Amino acid sequence: MRLATLTSGGDCPGLNAVIRAVVRTANKMDSTVIGYEDGWVGLLEDRRRDLYDDAYIDKILLRGGTILGTGRLHPDKFKAGLDQIKSNLEDAKVDALIAIGGEGTLKGAKWLSDNSVPVIGVPKTIDNDVNATNYTFGFDTAVSVATDAIDRLHTTAESHERILVVEVMGRHVGWIALHAGMAGGAHHTVIPEEPFDVADICKSMERRFQMGEKYGIVVVAEGAMPKEGTMQADEGGIDEFGHKTFTGIGQQIADEIHRRTGYDVRTTVLGHIQRGGTPTAYDRVLATRYGVHATKAALAGDSGKCVSLQGEAISLVDLEDAVGKLKVVPPERYATARALFG
Ligand code: F6P
Repeated sequence: MRLATLTSGGDCPGLNAVIRAVVRTANKMDSTVIGYEDGWVGLLEDRRRDLYDDAYIDKILLRGGTILGTGRLHPDKFKAGLDQIKSNLEDAKVDALIAIGGEGTLKGAKWLSDNSVPVIGVPKTIDNDVNATNYTFGFDTAVSVATDAIDRLHTTAESHERILVVEVMGRHVGWIALHAGMAGGAHHTVIPEEPFDVADICKSMERRFQMGEKYGIVVVAEGAMPKEGTMQADEGGIDEFGHKTFTGIGQQIADEIHRRTGYDVRTTVLGHIQRGGTPTAYDRVLATRYGVHATKAALAGDSGKCVSLQGEAISLVDLEDAVGKLKVVPPERYATARALFG
């Protein structure tokens, strides 16, 4: 058989580990693999290359980003290109496609499968917001990077008796903020799922100064929003792909804390540092397991499915269950974090 694979949407550590696993598994099962460049865009434009289980592929396990490149294609252009996509796959004699991406990519994969293209999805994103899987690869790496940064910020904040506001990624969900905040011993964390009152953040900081711990770390997910009527904040907008645009909420919170308390406050925005570089061991293992399972499923003739981590096991779920709604931080998880604020 012949498989095709592609990586689409924002990159994330572990994509190459999946590609390696797909190529090695397929070649061992007497099948060949081609890779489309730059996600759906390359599939539509028929930009492809053969991938072999060679020394190069073997070594990409550690490499961040994606050797195939990635991109975003507007859903309207994607849908308008269905005939072209089908004819490109037919010309390349592809029996099944393995699409590696986040919620948007998996939506595209489902749509292709609904239109008779055999597809298996592999969920990725540092945000960990794909439904129907416990974890996406990339998340553990992003949390490790953010935690390392928070660890470092503690000592400088303490030395200067400052508040350090750390803005981490998480446009729609606060998993990175929640985990990095807890692992890094943050003194307050805000996430998009729970609109915040800046007065609560100030209270947490004041408590610390009163206790004699004259510094504080506040972790803020980039998509966090204030409770209505509590603070004036830039509301941002929605981009052409339906994603929330960023408002620099970390800096806005820092300014407001300073205005209300008079403390010395600084802001650090971690940004794409969280998305680049080599994956952690956990992400390499998860990505590899996803790649092997997706390949075996595609070669067995499965379609319209997505690999997923359920407890400790990898299983196949319907693509339908992986899309449509995001996996958000449940209130009880945030309540656990809140128990340690201040
Ligand atoms: O991959 C998800 C994500 O990292 C979000 O947390 C972030 O908001 C977004 O991608 C930014 O992506 P880009 O800069 O590529 O538009």
